[in-house]
Amino acid sequence: MKGVILAGGSGSRMRPLTRITNKHLLPIYDRPMVTYAIEAFVKAGISEIMLVTGGTHAGEFLRLLGNGEDFGVGRLLYSYQDRPGGIAEALGLAEKFVGNDKLAVILADNIFGSSIGGVVENFTRQPGGARIVLVGLGEPDHLSNLGVARFEGDKIVEIQEKPDVAPSSYAVTGLYFYDPTVFEIISNLTPSERGELEITDVNNYFVNAGSMEYDILDGYWGDAGESIDAYFEVNDYVRSNGANK
Ligand code: G1P
Repeated sequence: MKGVILAGGSGSRMRPLTRITNKHLLPIYDRPMVTYAIEAFVKAGISEIMLVTGGTHAGEFLRLLGNGEDFGVGRLLYSYQDRPGGIAEALGLAEKFVGNDKLAVILADNIFGSSIGGVVENFTRQPGGARIVLVGLGEPDHLSNLGVARFEGDKIVEIQEKPDVAPSSYAVTGLYFYDPTVFEIISNLTPSERGELEITDVNNYFVNAGSMEYDILDGYWGDAGESIDAYFEVNDYVRSNGANK
């Protein structure tokens, strides 16, 4: 399985910090944010990785990660997104790298308390289609900043992106698994109202095709890029408990 780390975007919710660096280079406790995504993949046995970034600070990733050796990466490739065109557009840049393999995708501002190894194994056993990772969240305000699953019984029937009224308390984390047909789906997407190709549209395609599976996370999860407060909450958690354990 190949791994794709998405570390682009304009970081508008983190300004003015992101005027001088890329959001995913900001520290989480004692090291840059993006290194947690690398560690999550490497610990789960994914060692062929492409990092997709963009903007004016892209060169800093090379300075930090180099060829990936110091971080346990077997093969590290980079791609560059010319404009912030959305998560799905960024993923599309990894098409040639992924080839006919399955892939795992992680948003580099997502921090997981526990190892993602079990979920990776579950997708290894899945014949094809897609897999997402859900997390149960208490606060409705939080859910309206995320993708949220709508269920019929225990089956996901739709994912709603940043809903005013959440259809369940299960948020979609930024860890996704796809078979290589995902690239054809991306190439047929149309931009959303905010002018981006949305990962939620990709996921709903698999939901409608009946080939979306899911896991529910029982450990800690945080989106450090959601807001400044979320950023500090994730920092506090990692400082006390660590991550990817
Ligand atoms: C993205 C996805 C959203 C998901 C979230 C997880 O949102 O669109 O569905 O719940 O990542 O971090 P964004 O952070 O780009 O607003």
